[in-house]
Amino acid sequence: MINEHSNPLDDPAANPFDVARQAAEQIAERTGVEQHDIALTLGSGWAKAADLIGETTVTFPATDIAGFSKPALEGHVGSLRSLLLPGGKRALIIGARTHYYEGHGVRRVAHSARTAAATGAKVMILTNGAGGIRESWKPGQPVLISDHINLTADSPLEGATFVDLTDLYSSRLRALAKSVDPGLDEGVYVQFRGPHYETPAEVQMAKAIGGHIVGMSTALEAIAAREAGMEVLGMSLITNLAAGIQTTPLSHAEVIEAGRTAEPVISALLAKIVAEL
Ligand code: HPA
Repeated sequence: MINEHSNPLDDPAANPFDVARQAAEQIAERTGVEQHDIALTLGSGWAKAADLIGETTVTFPATDIAGFSKPALEGHVGSLRSLLLPGGKRALIIGARTHYYEGHGVRRVAHSARTAAATGAKVMILTNGAGGIRESWKPGQPVLISDHINLTADSPLEGATFVDLTDLYSSRLRALAKSVDPGLDEGVYVQFRGPHYETPAEVQMAKAIGGHIVGMSTALEAIAAREAGMEVLGMSLITNLAAGIQTTPLSHAEVIEAGRTAEPVISALLAKIVAEL
């Protein structure tokens, strides 16, 4: 059944790559930019980076574009922006992340990465707000994602699609980020389904299996980005220490507040990294 509110990705017969191509064509039409070079998904705390990275030429609601959904969450911006960078490159800013926990299926989660690739982007920067397992980390600190553990028990890939995930979070791009800020630490991101925060026991499990960061996004998007042939840079803003690592209860308000406080500093850092790409 098709109506104006339906999402083409919800039709099981639809090919998600066709929907991504259609979305990219609409973005090209809307922005007047035939090809974007870089795509950035800006999560909690990272939104201001867009203003520092380049000049915004066009902004529009993501829901105008095929396959994109309304953001489920206050504090998340549901817009797409096209930026002109000082060196002449074009960046697509995706302020509309569909989380796995929204329950709309993994195709909608992967759609922004697939669309980014279809616009021509060769590099995808994925950012998020997340919990820190390392006790030395402080809320407000940005860290690089070095690898991930996907605990959603799902994959954005369909069929016998055996994609290599070695060096998924590009060591080249991590080195470039560290050349901009040698103090940047890095760690393994563990994606849980959410939307509840982890229990302290789950955080201990994440630590025992090699995790340093806990969150509810990014891993599935990174897999889709790799499948689509893009080089991925992942960055987490540690908004809180993970459950049981910090002794106080976790709250969404705390996460948003930490993002707000850290935003100017991490946005400037991200802009400097993008300028080096
Ligand atoms: N866990 C999962 N997701 C999060 C957290 C956390 O502690 N903080 C911000 N997003």
